[in-house]
Amino acid sequence: MCGIVGYVGVKQAAPILLEGLAKLEYRGYDSAGIAVRDAGNEHVEVVKAKGRLKNLMEMTDSGKAVRGTCGIGHTRWATHGEPSAVNAHPHYSREKRVVVVHNGIIENYQEIKAALQRKGYAFATQTDTEAAALLLDSYYSEAGRSGMAPRERALSAIRDMMIRVRGSYALGILFGDQPGVMYAARKDSPLIVGRCDGELAGHMIASDVPAVLSYTRNVVYIDNLEIACLTQEEMHLYNIDCEEIEKPVVEIRWDAAAAEKEGYEHFMMKEIHEQPRAVRDTLSPRIREEDGAKRVDLSETNLTDEDFAAISRIRLIGCGSAYHVGMAARYVIEQLARVPCDVDLASEFRYRSPILEERELVVIISQSGETADSLAALRLCKESGIRTLAVVNVVSSSIAREADAVMYTWAGPEISVATTKAYSTQLAALYLLAVKLAVVRGQIDEAREQELIEQMLELPDKIERVLSDKERVQWFANKMASCKDVFFIGRGLDYAISLEGSLKLKEISYIHSEAYAAGELKHGTISLIEDGVLVVGVATQPELFEKVVSNMVEVRSRGAYLFGLTTYGQYAIEDTVNFTVYVPRTDALFATSLAVVPLQLLAYYISCAKGLDVDKPRNLAKSVTVE
Ligand code: M6R
Repeated sequence: MCGIVGYVGVKQAAPILLEGLAKLEYRGYDSAGIAVRDAGNEHVEVVKAKGRLKNLMEMTDSGKAVRGTCGIGHTRWATHGEPSAVNAHPHYSREKRVVVVHNGIIENYQEIKAALQRKGYAFATQTDTEAAALLLDSYYSEAGRSGMAPRERALSAIRDMMIRVRGSYALGILFGDQPGVMYAARKDSPLIVGRCDGELAGHMIASDVPAVLSYTRNVVYIDNLEIACLTQEEMHLYNIDCEEIEKPVVEIRWDAAAAEKEGYEHFMMKEIHEQPRAVRDTLSPRIREEDGAKRVDLSETNLTDEDFAAISRIRLIGCGSAYHVGMAARYVIEQLARVPCDVDLASEFRYRSPILEERELVVIISQSGETADSLAALRLCKESGIRTLAVVNVVSSSIAREADAVMYTWAGPEISVATTKAYSTQLAALYLLAVKLAVVRGQIDEAREQELIEQMLELPDKIERVLSDKERVQWFANKMASCKDVFFIGRGLDYAISLEGSLKLKEISYIHSEAYAAGELKHGTISLIEDGVLVVGVATQPELFEKVVSNMVEVRSRGAYLFGLTTYGQYAIEDTVNFTVYVPRTDALFATSLAVVPLQLLAYYISCAKGLDVDKPRNLAKSVTVE
């Protein structure tokens, strides 16, 4: 949900800002803008464009037309005010005395706007951010009257603004009368500061690491209610009381290439292909040899075996695909460990006055670690004194830092809006949790434990095998690209897979699709089945196979065109369906990890066949930092 970037240093800022924004475009892409200040120039130059970043690149001749060594930039996912050049960031006060880029939402902007209008401020946009910019201007004027030095004056204004606004923000700020200085502040939206050495000497700010990675690997994670003041040479960090604080510089170890397409046409396809490696990296470090046997090691959670054994309930919370991971993991945890397991949509969780048990473990699942609803759910649980575990991909993200413990999914940066490898690694992490719980609670014996671990470790190679058959899915997808409605059906774990397959399809192909527990069709939805409607039947669970096939027969006899997805050996499905994809056999509890891949490919190829922007589907953003 919007990306911000900033640079102050010896180099021309605009090309660096544009390159950084290109890396953040996954966060929002309905408009973009930059503001650059030339040290020898009195004014800050602002350029904004509606639409994709390439429009801004064209307007600025790839940044060459905007001169100056200090600047901020923004790529937008509209919340308040339609996507337009006017509503694009940066926003500024009169004569560009204060210029701001913002990721987040100022919830009380109406009330602030009304108060500022009474003071004579005029608003030019429909955005919430403009209220923050003009509020800063107002506090900056007040602080100026008390004769403060420039930096104290800016800090005082930023602090007063932070106290006054409600909501979330990562802000990049320029003050027109302070050349060569950039400020930043954060609450509940991600923000990093990068320290650039050598010929780039200077500092950067960004919403996410890929934006700075071409320039530096040394970053500082800014926490809530902290402020940064940056010049070419200096980095000063403050708490909300404007007291200077020290923070560690963290070295980013992953490669810039990890955030590039590396020859694939789209990030989504690259990330689909990275799944074997990502799943292996998530599983392997957590399986260790002990006395000739393999054991799941979750010591990173700081939970002892006794703690795991004492857990009364597992509550899995997430949004979108992360929620679907929870839906699948519930079957695995309940069947293996016999611990009651609830799955909650983070966006609903706190509005239903959840009844939490003292001994339950809440698991927050999130790729970005910044999803506003998931973060809010985490905080609610923490306030209630419930133990929390984050299953998160982005290192040092808010959810990772605020949870009592974290299990990182080692998927690497995921850029495509449609998640694939993060989903697969979250699932793998939760398999580990399920096996651990089952062992410490005495629900499975040693032989079953070893069998499950072996099956888990074979998953990466089996995913590779599914990928080697991708052309068949492509062929089918090309045939189906013009369909209007698709239903995904399955029972048990296959229902959980269906949920994810359906979301993937609608997200990037804009085809209406729904997932149904196959047994539910007869209770209403079957009335929508007519000639030519595509139904994807997922039947990986041996004990439910016949029942799902019966449901497929029911829809076929009403005209549906059928795609069957099952495991090798279940060839009887061919009597019923028009097209089949087989995935390798594994323990039925882990079948989701294999069956989800053809569904990812189906969505991908249909989106390509329709000529859509696979990685940046309309109306969406990668990281949803607003409620
Ligand atoms: O970063 P998170 O995992 O918390 O994001 C949750 C959802 O927004 C995300 O899974 C979304 O549904 C994906 N775009 C689906 O592909």
